[in-house]
Amino acid sequence: MKIFCSRTLRIFLLCMSAWLLCTGSNAAEPVLELSFSKQQQRLARADLLRHPDVRTIEVPADSAYKQPMKYRALPLLSILRDVRSVDVLQFKTEDGFVANIPTALLSGGAQPWLAIEAPHAPWPALKAGGRSAGPFYLVWLAPEKSGITPELWPYQITAISEVTLLQNRYPQILPAASIAPDSAEYRGMHIYIMQCAACHQINGGGDAKVGPDLNLPFNPTEYFQEGFLRRYIRAPSAVRSWAQMTMPEFSEQVLSESQMDDLLAYLRHMTQRR
Ligand code: HEC
Repeated sequence: MKIFCSRTLRIFLLCMSAWLLCTGSNAAEPVLELSFSKQQQRLARADLLRHPDVRTIEVPADSAYKQPMKYRALPLLSILRDVRSVDVLQFKTEDGFVANIPTALLSGGAQPWLAIEAPHAPWPALKAGGRSAGPFYLVWLAPEKSGITPELWPYQITAISEVTLLQNRYPQILPAASIAPDSAEYRGMHIYIMQCAACHQINGGGDAKVGPDLNLPFNPTEYFQEGFLRRYIRAPSAVRSWAQMTMPEFSEQVLSESQMDDLLAYLRHMTQRR
């Protein structure tokens, strides 16, 4: 009997501590880290939701959910103090995706808002059985005003910081010095930076590691026939398909045919720059 009691007690204590651990981590408030030369802050979700500029907004063309959505949200610029001197805002997310957004796009009429998932009003899962886009998600009310592509809608955001241009931090992604800044190769690099660098690297240069390096050890322009490469970028599953694939489709609305030409000119050129 004595043995039984002490065992029951031990099990009870174990369960209690497991319960405390669980409730403890549930109570942990998601935090958004801001890191700028003039602003270092950790903002808890509850405090963000109490911000006086929080509104309920309707996003007509939501990129992550592919349907109109309603959110509690804050104008992004309400939480960023002086970002005029900053070139690029970097958004890090929980899954290693990195969106580098030029600050010029923030004030161009596209209206960026930080959507905040309130604990009592959870958002739907992005994929069946998976997580939502919360707790923090960057949405745009008028993305067409500044050509905001789907790669500029980071979700499950953990941190926003100030960075200089990607090509200054990783000069190994630059075309050769002999290439003119108004050439197809250069334009292609800018398209690569805006649309592809959120997941890929070139010559080991870049912030994200979601997809393979596009020049090391080989460049897809070397091992894909051009027609298939174009089809792959437009719709990866049209060329290869498996359950875990994550590369998004780039329709002509987000990547025009002439932008595709420039992008491929850049990729082809980079085969000579390993
Ligand atoms: C959201 C992340 C993401 C973005 C943005 C993205 N890719 Fe990918 N890409 C991937 C992943 C992950 C793979 C590996 C295959 C997969 O899981 O779908 C991949 C695979 C590829 C491949 C095939 C490589 C191989 O050897 O199989 C090519 C080519 C490619 N991407 C080119 C691009 C280009 C060009 C862009 C920009 C227009 C781009 N990707 C944007 C995530 C991304």
